[in-house]
Amino acid sequence: MITTKYYGKFGGAYIPEILVSTFEQLVNAFEEAKRDPQFWKEYTAIMSNYSCRPTPLTYAENLTKHLGGARIYIKREDLNHTGAHKANNVMGQGLLVKRMGKTRVIAETGAGQHGVATATMAAKFGFACTIYMGEKDVERQRPNVFWMERLGATVVPVTDGTRILKDAINEAFRDWSANMDDTHYVLGTACGAHPFPEMVMYFQSIIGKEARKQVMDITGRLPKRVYACVGGGSNALGIFSGFLNDPVELVGVEAGGKGLDSGMHASRLASKDGSPGIAQGYKTYFLQNKDGQMMETHSVSAGLDYVGVSPILADLKEKGRIRFEAATDKEVLDAFTLTLRKEGLIPALESSHAFVQAYKEAGSLTKDDVIIINQSGRGDKDIFTVADAFKDPEWMKFIKKKAENYGA
Ligand SMILES: Cc1ncc(COP(=O)(O)O)c(C=O)c1O
Repeated sequence: MITTKYYGKFGGAYIPEILVSTFEQLVNAFEEAKRDPQFWKEYTAIMSNYSCRPTPLTYAENLTKHLGGARIYIKREDLNHTGAHKANNVMGQGLLVKRMGKTRVIAETGAGQHGVATATMAAKFGFACTIYMGEKDVERQRPNVFWMERLGATVVPVTDGTRILKDAINEAFRDWSANMDDTHYVLGTACGAHPFPEMVMYFQSIIGKEARKQVMDITGRLPKRVYACVGGGSNALGIFSGFLNDPVELVGVEAGGKGLDSGMHASRLASKDGSPGIAQGYKTYFLQNKDGQMMETHSVSAGLDYVGVSPILADLKEKGRIRFEAATDKEVLDAFTLTLRKEGLIPALESSHAFVQAYKEAGSLTKDDVIIINQSGRGDKDIFTVADAFKDPEWMKFIKKKAENYGA
């Protein structure tokens, strides 16, 4: 019998027979760790010593003046080691891998941030590491592939299907089924079969715990709204978990791509295109056609184009606890630019989705209101995408010259 968990009608553990004992081992290791007060201490110690936690809550004074409404605070997950909130999850799972006595980790990655974070954790803890990445994402995120390989990981480009994140997940599951004894699959977001949604949210809850204390210490009040981008849902659940029991509005922002009517987006919860289904080990809202075939997704950001979404978020949407919105590629590039120019911060394109919605709403709130935006990662990795989008002529010259030097 497999241990499973549902969130309303979503979640579960729909896994092949062959993986049942591996999942049971993981459930037991996670439950034991949660009960052990030393484990959270060990986790927070490594996060402060190795990944700069607690990350600051930065007052965005210039943006606040510019938009003329709520006071805007930014939770700086970009300052984590490896540049994104992904570090919170991988270091936690790494500690569990040590407890289980396994020696190899595998992971899927979209934007490459989770891949780099996993390869970093593997280097630090001395694990062998293989990363599965859709071929399309390998092309879009070459700098992250470069660093994964330098860190000692093997990066496997996945050529099946649409060659993006969901295909990488399928491939990682194939590997895990063949190598369960020594291998742990470090799933990068709060999706998949139990215990992954709960476990990833548990490690990411460090964001919300810190943010709640910081906002109370700095402003003496709870925020009116908290904004986070939503790919699989891990950074959103991380920060939202700190405020779930408070009278705080929670706003998740998905990839609106070329617009919700264009059919080229990745919005499962804010659009009419998502519907409940079972795939990749769990039940949630998927972008799928009437026959249950997964649809193609599109986003300017590689980290938000997943077809599924956390079952915990699907449930909180149905319960009306979280509002979901979508930001288009164009709005994202505008918000990205405004953030750079006004605050000197470079948000990841994924994070910029949250900024879009916050900027739309800040002006209609009052100066007594406080809002928090989760800057889930830093945008340096997006240099190629952003330079292309702005058709930067000097950058194009630079790339051409580089190509010539390589004899391309
Ligand atoms: C910087 C950044 N933010 C957000 C995400 C989306 O993931 P999640 O919804 O699990 O936070 C990614 C995924 O790669 C990412 O790299």
